[in-house]
Amino acid sequence: MTVALAPAPAGLSVRPVPYAPSVGKRPRQEAFGVVVDGIKDINKLTDDEFAIIENLLYRHGVVVFEDVDVTPAGQHALTNAFDPAAQEYGHGKVGRPEAASILHPDLRNIPAQPAVQLIGNGLVTDDHVLQGLVNPCKLKHPSHQSFHKTQISAEDSAKGFTRFYRWHIDAALYEREAPKVTTLYGLQMPTAKKNIVRYDDGTGDELEVPLGGTAFVSGKVMFDILPAPLKSLAVRTRVQYAPHPYVWMGSAKAKSTGLGMVSDGTEMSLDDLPPWEEKHVKTLPVCWKNPVTGHLHLQVHPSAVHELFIDPLPVGARRQPDTLYPDGAHLTNLKEVRELIYSMQRPGIAPELVYTVDWKPRQLALFHNRGTLHSITGAFAEDEVRAFWQCNQAASVPVVGPSEEDVLEFA
Ligand SMILES: [Fe+2]
Repeated sequence: MTVALAPAPAGLSVRPVPYAPSVGKRPRQEAFGVVVDGIKDINKLTDDEFAIIENLLYRHGVVVFEDVDVTPAGQHALTNAFDPAAQEYGHGKVGRPEAASILHPDLRNIPAQPAVQLIGNGLVTDDHVLQGLVNPCKLKHPSHQSFHKTQISAEDSAKGFTRFYRWHIDAALYEREAPKVTTLYGLQMPTAKKNIVRYDDGTGDELEVPLGGTAFVSGKVMFDILPAPLKSLAVRTRVQYAPHPYVWMGSAKAKSTGLGMVSDGTEMSLDDLPPWEEKHVKTLPVCWKNPVTGHLHLQVHPSAVHELFIDPLPVGARRQPDTLYPDGAHLTNLKEVRELIYSMQRPGIAPELVYTVDWKPRQLALFHNRGTLHSITGAFAEDEVRAFWQCNQAASVPVVGPSEEDVLEFA
């Protein structure tokens, strides 16, 4: 099967990603994830090539290139082409200025391209991979063991069981706008080793993934599969994120699905956070409108949600017995807020809806950060080397929510 391209540019071909048997009908119908073959130099795309890739990203969520030689400058240029006015890394210049931030502690900025970071696991000794970072460089792949409230036993981990680490959007969610795209370039990783992700939420759901595979779900599918009352709620709701969310959630622990936090009241009080200003707090719609297709994507960073603002049903919408919050609401009870968001998101991470990138060296993946959620997976041994370059930039423009027509259609 090939993916229709009109007009087909000379030498380029597009096909769906190789789906694991676990991938169900819906992601296949949507062609969620495509592979592009035939790009001459990924570091120096022609305008025509970029236009095709940009369109594919918004239509298919994830765009993969195999056997490509990417340079950090080329990766930065490609990332920046999606948003030429973007200035800096998605989390700002330093990345994680606050000591208590839960963001990847082993992220290393490439000296010549600070918006590109080295991430991974184990002892990296290849100068090409390190690009000027001190050799050797020891990295640590994040593990659910420290982030989730409950853990897989050492015995089961040794058998290859793991979890989704943290479902998320790459976004600071304070002061800066959510990046449009993230690019990930795989340099070194173990291949041909499998893990089983356990959801451990009483459903019995499990998913076989390649070790260290990056899992993706479509925010469009997440919205599309909801029952009418939750769709109505989704188009009427805005999420207020906590100030400095990655510091705020520092001592809280995640659910076993990696989809948001357990409400034990362990978040930092807003008074104890590093200095913050009301004007930088982000209140974003639950549904983000795709700039190319016009579809709605349910895009919420579940770990960082703080409060919900729900609009009443619009004039002309029919009030049904099962309509949720028909008169609107401002929800501030964190447990209630999280449970409501979880009820909207959990259906969308069902095993059959997850596409996991099976990494090979010299593989590049671009993902629509405003249209997908992703999670890393995998439990790595200390001596298993994994090295990736990743790049995203805080966007120059905010996300766009549902239009009036969208609200009327789904409310
Ligand atoms: Fe990420």
